[in-house]
This record gives sequence, C-alpha cells and structure tokens, in this order.
Amino acid sequence: MSLKFAKFLLLLACPLPMFAQQVAIIPQPVELKLNEGNFIIDKNTSVQFNASQAALKPAVDFFINAVKDVSGIALQQNKPAAKKVEFILAAQTAFKPEAYSLTVTPSLIQIKASSYAGIFYGIQSLLQTLPQVRTNAALQVPCMQINDEPRFKWRGMHLDVSRHFFSADVVKQYINLLAMYKMNTFHWHLVDDQGWRIEIKKYPKLTSTGAWRVDQNDKVWGSRPQAQPGEEATYGGYYTQEQVKEIIAYAKARNVTVVPEIEMPGHVASAIAAYPQLSCTQQPQLPLTGGNYNNMSSNYCAGNEEVFSFLQDVLTEVIALFPSTYIHIGGDEVDKGPWKKCERCQARMKKEGLKNEEELQSYFIKRMEKFIVSKKRKMIGWDEILEGGLAPEATVMSWRGEAGGIEAAKMHHDVVMTPGSPCYFDHYQAGPEGEPLAIGGFNTVKKVYDYEPIPKELSAEQHKYVLGAQGNVWTEYISTAEHLEYMVLPRMLALAETVWSPAATKNWNDFSRRLQFHFNAFDAKGLHYSPGNFTVDIKPAAKNGKLEVALFSEVPTASILYTTDGTVTTISSAVYTKPIAVESTQTIRAVTMQNGKIMNLQPVEQRFVMHKAVGANVQYVHQPSRSYMADGINSLTDGVRGKSAVNKFWHGFNKNNLVATVDLGTEKNISRISLGCLQHYRDWIFLPTAVKFEVSVDGKTFTEVATVQNDVPVNTLALTIKDFTAKFPATNARYVRVTAYTLEACPKGHPGEGKPAWTFADELEVE
Ligand code: ACM
Ligand code: ZN
Repeated sequence: MSLKFAKFLLLLACPLPMFAQQVAIIPQPVELKLNEGNFIIDKNTSVQFNASQAALKPAVDFFINAVKDVSGIALQQNKPAAKKVEFILAAQTAFKPEAYSLTVTPSLIQIKASSYAGIFYGIQSLLQTLPQVRTNAALQVPCMQINDEPRFKWRGMHLDVSRHFFSADVVKQYINLLAMYKMNTFHWHLVDDQGWRIEIKKYPKLTSTGAWRVDQNDKVWGSRPQAQPGEEATYGGYYTQEQVKEIIAYAKARNVTVVPEIEMPGHVASAIAAYPQLSCTQQPQLPLTGGNYNNMSSNYCAGNEEVFSFLQDVLTEVIALFPSTYIHIGGDEVDKGPWKKCERCQARMKKEGLKNEEELQSYFIKRMEKFIVSKKRKMIGWDEILEGGLAPEATVMSWRGEAGGIEAAKMHHDVVMTPGSPCYFDHYQAGPEGEPLAIGGFNTVKKVYDYEPIPKELSAEQHKYVLGAQGNVWTEYISTAEHLEYMVLPRMLALAETVWSPAATKNWNDFSRRLQFHFNAFDAKGLHYSPGNFTVDIKPAAKNGKLEVALFSEVPTASILYTTDGTVTTISSAVYTKPIAVESTQTIRAVTMQNGKIMNLQPVEQRFVMHKAVGANVQYVHQPSRSYMADGINSLTDGVRGKSAVNKFWHGFNKNNLVATVDLGTEKNISRISLGCLQHYRDWIFLPTAVKFEVSVDGKTFTEVATVQNDVPVNTLALTIKDFTAKFPATNARYVRVTAYTLEACPKGHPGEGKPAWTFADELEVE
C-alpha cells in the first residue's frame, strides 16, 4: 500500500471535526489548529492587560474600538470577569520580532508577544474571525491555537501621490488596509515631476508652486503638450508637516513604518518649477502639467553646489519628521541628456575624474548617502543606483525585473524585491477589456500569489540580503480613492501572504477559498476590489495548421460557460470541458460560474479571424524576447490581432530584426500578406523601418513580393497599430517569409536615445 493511500485511510478512520465556522485568515498563519467550541465576545467580556506596560495601551484601544465598531459593545478593562481577552507582553526573548501566539478557548482569548507589533498582529488575526461590519451577529471566535511570525521583515506597499494627489484621509485608509494584512512598510512616493507633495519650511515654493499643475484629463498619460504661458496651475495639493506627523503616528499604531521617498536627481520637474536655478539650464519654467516632460528641465544639476545644500536642507526636515531607518532617494530613470549639455556638470565630471554621466549619477547618490548616514539613517534607492557604482551602504529596490536585486545581493547589499511583473499594481489585473484604463502590463492576483521574492540565482548564504518584497502603485491613471482600492484589492492580499507565510505552506486553492470571505468583507464595507480573477483567460494555441482555444479560470472551484455563435452567455450556455477547435471567423465569449451564479459583469470575449495562415507553424531566426512571448511561438498565426495591452498579444524583439518563416502546410494560392506592428513611444516600442515579404514553394528559394516602408513619424506618441501590407498578383506558395527591420535605436529626444528600440508584431495575415 502506498504511503499516500495509508494516510487517506487514516483520515477516514478519524474524520476531521466539522467546525461551524471556517477560519479565513490572510496571510495564512504559520501554525493554526482549530479546536472544538467558541469564545463569544459580549458585554461580560473584560480586556486584561498590565496597565504598567504603556506600550500595550494603543493596541488595547485599537481592539476595543474595533469590537465596538462591529458590535456596539464597549468592552470592560481589567475587571473581574468569567471571560477574558488577555494581552501579554512577554520578555524580549520569548518571541521573535513581530511574532505572536493567539489562544482561544471557550473562556479565554490570549494574545502573547514580545513586541507591540506581535500583539497588534494577534489582534488582526482575531479580528479576521469576527463579523467585518456592524450587525446583530454574535461575536463568535472559534477555539484555536495560532503560532505565527513573518517570513520577511520588509512587507511593503508603495503609493505615488505625485501623479495624482490623495488626501491625508485617503492615505490613512490606505495604511489601515496595509495593517489589516500585516504589511508593515508604507513607501510614500512624495516627489515626482507632476507634483511636490510635502511641506518643506525652508523652501515654501516647493509646495506653493511645485504642488500644483495645469489640470489634465487626457486619456493617454504623458500626451498633453507643455503648458502655454498664462495657463493656470490649479490641480494638486500637498501634506503639511502637521499632517505628515499625524499620518506617521497613525501608521505607528498599526505597526507600519512610513518610508519617505524624496526623488532625486531626476523626476523633479516639480522642484525645478519652484526653483529653476537647481536645473542645468536655470531657465524659468512653464507651469507643471500632467504630461510630457521630454522637453522640460526635470533633473537637478549635478555640477551645482547649491543643489546639494538644498537637498541636505530638505532631507534634514524630512529626517526630523520621519523616524524610519530608511530614507528613499529615488534615483530611477534619470535622463542624462541635460547633464551632457551642461558646463557645470561636465566640469564636475572632469574635477572628480568621472568617466561618464552614469558615474556622475553615482557621485550624486554617494554624496547623498554620506549625508543620510551622518544622520544615522540608511539610504534606499531604485536599482538604477547600481549604475556607475553603488553607494557603499545602499539598499536597492529592484524594479526593472529582478536583475538589480540579484546583483546587489551578490555584492552583499540589502535588497527589496519589487519587480514590475508581478509587483506593479498599476498594471492590469484582468481584461484589459472591461477594466479601467491602466498603464499597461498584466499582473493577475495569481501571478502575485505565485511570486517568490528570493531569486533562485542567489546562494543560501545570500538569501538574508532579501529584506522582502513590495507592491508599487503608480497613479498616472489612478485619480480616486475608489480606483486606488480597486487596483490594490485583492492583489495586496496575495502579496501579503507571499511575504508573511512560509513558502512551503502557500496554497492557491486554499487562498482562493479564504479570499471569498474577504470579498464578502469588502462588499460589506463598500471597498472597491477587482473580481478580476473570476474572468476567463482565452488562450489560443496554433499548431500544425490547426487553431484550438483553451479557456482557463484562476478560480479552482469555478466552471466556465461559453458561446461561439455570437450570442450572449447565459446560465444555460455550454459548459467548457475541453479546448474548442476554431475553423471559421468567430467570437468566443466566456464567463465564470460559481455556486450557480455568473460572476462577471461582462463576458470576456475574443474574436478569431480566419485567414490562410491561421494555425501555421512559425520559425524565427531570432527568438522573440522571453518577456513578450504572447500565446507561444505561433502567436503570429493564432487568428487574434494584437491590441493595446503590450504584453498580452505581441511578440517583442529587441535589437534583432524579426525574421519569420511561416509554413502554410500545403501550397496555397495567395495575393495578400499583412503584418501588424505596434508603436508605443513611452515603452520604447517603435514601428519597424520597413517590412519585406517573400514567398516560396519549397522553403529554400524565396521570391520577394514587396518591401513596405514605414510612413508613421518615429516620434508619434500615441499608441499606433500599423498593418504593413503587400498586395500582389495571385501566386502559389507554401512558405511566407517576413523580415521586419527594427529601428536601429531609440530616436533623438527619447528617454532611451541611442539605446536599442523594440519591434512588436502581431498577426501575420495571409489571403
Ligand atoms: C519606477 O517605476 N520608475 C521605479
Ligand atoms: Zn548641470
């Protein structure tokens, strides 16, 4: 008998007790044992704690208020009572930092920890077993034993308050949401081109000028032209130092450390608008906009001493406000163009023996680190601070994938992992059809859940340098609190479990089950969230002349209903069981059904267009980038046209030309070939300069039928899809070869000027 089978029989022999209540705590505790019975919190319950331990009081108050909120019951404190909720702050050595135990019996709830953090997290776990809003329901806590501690010490969420301003109240709500899920670091992105958001007493114009911009309602972020003289800057806002202190205190009571980001030396058009002498040109600036900063001064001058004294003054005020060990200095995406043209910057490079502008940036950051370290704090910055030489004690936040984090950890520097995929919560989480417009990308809740913050490239000894992971919320496309909630929920819950729970115990199916409780809680509380993981993924697979379409839902317990005849999906539509063969032009619509209910507001739909190359095998000379593989190697012939979402449909090529040979399977009579290509200036994606089309009968000798030149200007900002089309007298061919000539480099004036451009292609249509 196999061991597995023996275990199964054992389970049958002693069936698990059925508990009235299932526990749905997120993040999943390290150890959780449910026992029989309940503790009912009622007005005869007393909260017990050692009143001489002042550190406990905020936690006690937090708990008492939370119980009052969901029941109206005002619990007694330190009174003789038959039923007690007891908080015990144990000796320092008894528990690890942030660890706690939670014991529930019918007469006692006891939370024990060596720290305020641990007590607070015990309370959070307890609260997740109670009703989430005020009802008349009994406050019934199942008997259980929890022993719990976090896997990582940096469990972060970031918020960009520059691209859109969020009020102090919204920031507090955000912090509260973090705390509910045991996230302990709030990375507050206070400075960017589009607004300076923190009062600095010594430099009042930073907020009187730098916090305001000409309103922008353009659909495409960054497409707004510069402000015109006379246009008024009326949109924005900032936090006073009093508000900042209040927010920090609010966070502290919830074991959240607020890490301020004072961006430098780039992304600071807001500071330059206020104090133009800090830029290389030193020219007065037009009012800020929500738009395009390509032609404006948005860097500090690295050759001007005044810049350094200014930044030290700013950081002195920031450090006085924020108790955080870490001070974030940004450091990302610096356009080195202005420094190349600036006499002072060039003189600095000469004087300091700096070989290039990367080293100038490194000089800048190292000087700032020295200052921060002199104030007994640590500097953290985005992974660009590796370029030109990493500052000696810097901590690196890896966002351009994991490479920066890996490199820094190998150099024995601490790192926080926040790779764009899957840690950018400004990316799409479903759709993109039916979703609010987002900056791009595609990070589903499952992708976040499956993320492992320790890269496999690191040795066991190097693991300790990974402090944890963080979700980033850039707000170019997010302007309201409701939209912000929607982007964060439920992905933050998946990240919370990733950074808290042991990797070995993570379980997507069980997380999905627990998530339902939290969705119900969000509904009750009026919190906005994406039910995105209910949507169906429609995945075509083209191979050997056939096109099959598979449907997936990330919800393990759901079934999928679909139609292929253009009709609306209903409860009686076909139930999906196996891949659907697509043989003619058609639209597949699909929905997820759970507990007899259709879960989508609108069905996911995909149109498949038949042509003579659908299903054909594609052979590339250079493989597409691993990051842009779309549906697989034959995505060019899957009957699906690429749309706006950059990493969903398109095959991407960097540096190399796209050279693809398509085998139509048999000789066919053809007279038209078309290759769809994408231009997305902001993402470094440019239309090819030309596309050559060739045909062949035997796959060896090819005849050119046409070369089509690109006629779209290279600096077109708007997302553009262009079909390069060859029409020619009908001819018989089995093979079609296309060569799309990649633009040699990003053009002049582009942030990536001189660096390799991307070519993106989808669908190769043959008629
Ligand atoms: C970043 O996303 N620019 C750090
Ligand atoms: Zn300069």
